[in-house]
Amino acid sequence: MEAKNKNINIEDIKVIQAPLAGISDVVFRSLIRKYNSNCLMTTEMISSEMLCNNPNPRIIEFNDFEYPLAFQLVGHKVDKMTKAAQILEPFASMIDINCGCPVKKVIVSGDGSAMMKTPELAFDIIQSIKQATNLPVSAKFRLGWTKDEENFIEFGKTLEKAGVSFVTLHARTRSQMYEGKADWKKIKLLVDELNIPVFANGDIKTINDAKNCLDLTGAKGVSIGRGIMGDFTLPYRIEKYIQDKIIIPEPDFNLKINMLKEHLRLEVEHMGEANGVKFMRKFYSYYISSLRNASKYRSRLVLMEKEEEILEAIDEILSIHNRNIG
Ligand SMILES: Cc1cc2nc3c(=O)[nH]c(=O)nc-3n(C[C@H](O)[C@H](O)[C@H](O)COP(=O)(O)O)c2cc1C
Repeated sequence: MEAKNKNINIEDIKVIQAPLAGISDVVFRSLIRKYNSNCLMTTEMISSEMLCNNPNPRIIEFNDFEYPLAFQLVGHKVDKMTKAAQILEPFASMIDINCGCPVKKVIVSGDGSAMMKTPELAFDIIQSIKQATNLPVSAKFRLGWTKDEENFIEFGKTLEKAGVSFVTLHARTRSQMYEGKADWKKIKLLVDELNIPVFANGDIKTINDAKNCLDLTGAKGVSIGRGIMGDFTLPYRIEKYIQDKIIIPEPDFNLKINMLKEHLRLEVEHMGEANGVKFMRKFYSYYISSLRNASKYRSRLVLMEKEEEILEAIDEILSIHNRNIG
């Protein structure tokens, strides 16, 4: 694929690939581009502390056809976050600040969604990165810590004042983790209060979801995460709908299986057979979810250790499927 210019025109962005730790690596993002999407890619969250100690970790690997590409930073120390942004400046289209991660090992030190409890710190980090680099900065956050402590509007206003170019709202609280339904109505409240673009995030898995969410919220665009797992065409299909009102059908099972095989092959090439095979175990259930006996097949696949053996099993699953529908 052709190398692209790293500069971003935020006006053009309608779809963002949401950051997914342990999922949205360089291979994952490259496959989204292969299926034609112009979406803004986002790396997995990158610890600013780790990056300051090791400025060249594997997690920052990327291809230049991926642009525009946001590097997401997680951390709560102004100096470390600023230094990390400076390290990334030569290759990043922009920096996204993680103010939404709910997991314990992240929040204990005040990072991720814990930043919503220290808006003044988020403000300082954003201002400092903006002063120290020429990169646009965005932030992704949740509704608040708990249902009774929702502060997404005040938090969004604080970040707007600090100079973020846009925000992404994951319409759940920290205490919800990934449970329950994302409350898109809250996104509309934020859209109404801010003068910068807001991207809607949470439970957008189909073109219809994107349409309903945008109609309800008036958001500038959507940020999609888990919906891409098992279907790399989703960002492109949503873009085509938003831009041209064209509905491209979901890929059929044969195409999904081809995606799975290519994903497996590229991860094995990228990280070696043992790690690549282990990494891919997170994805099988997404690729084969439409099968009647999906969990039985998944349980078989996750025990396998050799790429060749997995490819044979996948072909067998495909031929059983094709025989059953034929
Ligand atoms: C496995 C996994 C890893 C995630 N990693 C990150 C991350 O690194 N940074 C972040 O801001 N959000 C992360 N998230 C949250 C997603 O970006 C997104 O906000 C959430 O999954 C809701 O959107 P969705 O319903 O489209 O998946 C992660 C979610 C999952 C399921």
